[in-house]
Amino acid sequence: MPSLAETLRELEEEARTALASVADLEALDSWRTTYLGRRGRLREVTRGLASLAPEERRQVGALANRVLEELEAAFGERRRQLEQEALARKLAEAALDVSLPGRPLLRGRLHPVTQTLRDVLAAFAALGFQVVEGPEVEWDYYNFEALLIPKDHPARDLWATLWIDYRRDGEMPMLLRTHTSPNQVRYMEKHRPPIRIVSPGRCYRYEATDPTHEWMLTQVEVLAVDEGISMADLKGTLAEVARRLFGTERRVRFRCEYYPFVEPGMDVLIDCFQCRGEGCRTCGQSGWIEILGSGMVHPRILANVGYDPERYTGFAAGLGIERIAMLRYGIDDIRLFYQNDLRFLEQF
Ligand code: PHE
Repeated sequence: MPSLAETLRELEEEARTALASVADLEALDSWRTTYLGRRGRLREVTRGLASLAPEERRQVGALANRVLEELEAAFGERRRQLEQEALARKLAEAALDVSLPGRPLLRGRLHPVTQTLRDVLAAFAALGFQVVEGPEVEWDYYNFEALLIPKDHPARDLWATLWIDYRRDGEMPMLLRTHTSPNQVRYMEKHRPPIRIVSPGRCYRYEATDPTHEWMLTQVEVLAVDEGISMADLKGTLAEVARRLFGTERRVRFRCEYYPFVEPGMDVLIDCFQCRGEGCRTCGQSGWIEILGSGMVHPRILANVGYDPERYTGFAAGLGIERIAMLRYGIDDIRLFYQNDLRFLEQF
């Protein structure tokens, strides 16, 4: 029969071998119970100490203590290893594959009409004009009456109107503004000359669409009132803005036109970017594209807002921003702007 000391050494040997093959923390736990637990193998062996002679008991007892301490130390070491391995596994499972290309962030951009609008406003701001806004749902009064377009006057047909179904005295006095010109009167009612304003906004018209007409459009109204303002100021201002927007190469044409609220009235046209003046679908075969209406503010309007028309004169203009954007970017159909097709919009 082997001595107790030999049994202890064999046990230590066996325990170390078993410990080396312990694969996870759970197995490690049962290893500890098996070898070092209160009913474990080491206790089992040391119970035999009682039957030894005192001298031998001391020696073998010391040996047993050393084996216990060393196995405890080995246990602690193994536990640290296993914990680290477990952590590494967990991290590996949760890890991102940083070698995959990232999902591209979709970057927004300004609509071409917004870009053009900002450039137009900036061009006027550089000439000293201030930006003022007005309502899109407008009274018949400001959209027509105050601009010298009375009820039943044929000039109303110049603007196919979307009426708001709200009746007063049997009439429908509310509408979606057909142009930004009502802001001229709104502003003059509240301010005195000198006036230099631009007023941007959406306008609406009840009309069939074609390459240069939409039922919704963006305008910028221009108004300057002061002593001594003349047609030369109007032409000079509009020509300067056209130069800023289109460069010096584009040809600009001024053409007499009738608008009830100006006298005289004038349109500004730019040579068609598609055909360079030859005549095509985009310009309706004329070679020119109208970008704005304008004229000298009618003296009666000045008088109606309490200005002395002998002392003050002014000019006004209404620019179509979509038309200008078409000319700048070479877009041949105005309807593209509001179809929300990203293939179109992402080009600007
Ligand atoms: N309001 C006119 C339109 O839409 C344009 C215009 C503005 C004409 C100012 C003359 C003066 O069509």
